[in-house]
Amino acid sequence: MFKSNFVIEEMDIKLKTDFIGTNFIYYEEVESTNTELLKDLSITEHGTVLMANNQVKGRGRLNRTWISDKDNSITFSILLTENLTAKKLNIITLAAGLAVAQSIENLYQLDVRLKWPNDVLIETRKVCGILVESVSRGDIPERVVVGIGVNVNQPMFEGHYNIPPTSIRKEFGSVVSRERILAEILNEFEEVMKKVDKNPESVLESWRQRSKLIGEKIKIVDGDKEYFGVFEDIDDNGFLILSGRDGIKTIYNGDVSLR
Ligand code: BTN
Repeated sequence: MFKSNFVIEEMDIKLKTDFIGTNFIYYEEVESTNTELLKDLSITEHGTVLMANNQVKGRGRLNRTWISDKDNSITFSILLTENLTAKKLNIITLAAGLAVAQSIENLYQLDVRLKWPNDVLIETRKVCGILVESVSRGDIPERVVVGIGVNVNQPMFEGHYNIPPTSIRKEFGSVVSRERILAEILNEFEEVMKKVDKNPESVLESWRQRSKLIGEKIKIVDGDKEYFGVFEDIDDNGFLILSGRDGIKTIYNGDVSLR
């Protein structure tokens, strides 16, 4: 039998951050950690992490749902309230994917790739989803919430998924510590956030190196619109540059797949 309850102290012991997760809020159950952090305006501290053991109405990108398995996954959101700009917002989205990928690689030596904008994949299988949401005043984001759901110890997945899911356990071959992976992600996220401020180009470059699809022929579905072309690169803001029959186009949102 493996222990299933999340032990905050075990996570804390591995946490090396100055501001990410120093204010740590743990709920046994919430509808969505993102919704909770967006609506509870009494929480203002930059770097606050809100985690739920059981997230019962998880939200994904493009109005999808995020299904998580109590005790076998981690679902949490990070609140950012300082030094925010609209431009930074998109780079933060990419940075979050990088932090998760780096953490899984550090602890379990798995080859982790990113699919624009921020799906975290092991080969073709999705191990983590990220949803960044914000509240802005004019152009300036006041409250940015970075929501992260990682499949950690699920032995298998049932149901129908947009991208086939996997868990760290399935890829690594044994049950792993949720506390350890959460601490690692928070440590890595703080490191990459320092780069977002000091050297955003290095964040974009790290993202390019982990990208699965740059240089490939892709299809993008954004609502009822479809685009086809070659995924040329990401621009300074982290948006996707597509070269198609009608020339170069910048893509701000959507689902990318190989053509
Ligand atoms: C996606 O792949 O579409 C994004 C999924 C994001 C899921 C996380 S789990 C924690 C946070 N709270 C939510 O309701 N969603 C995000």
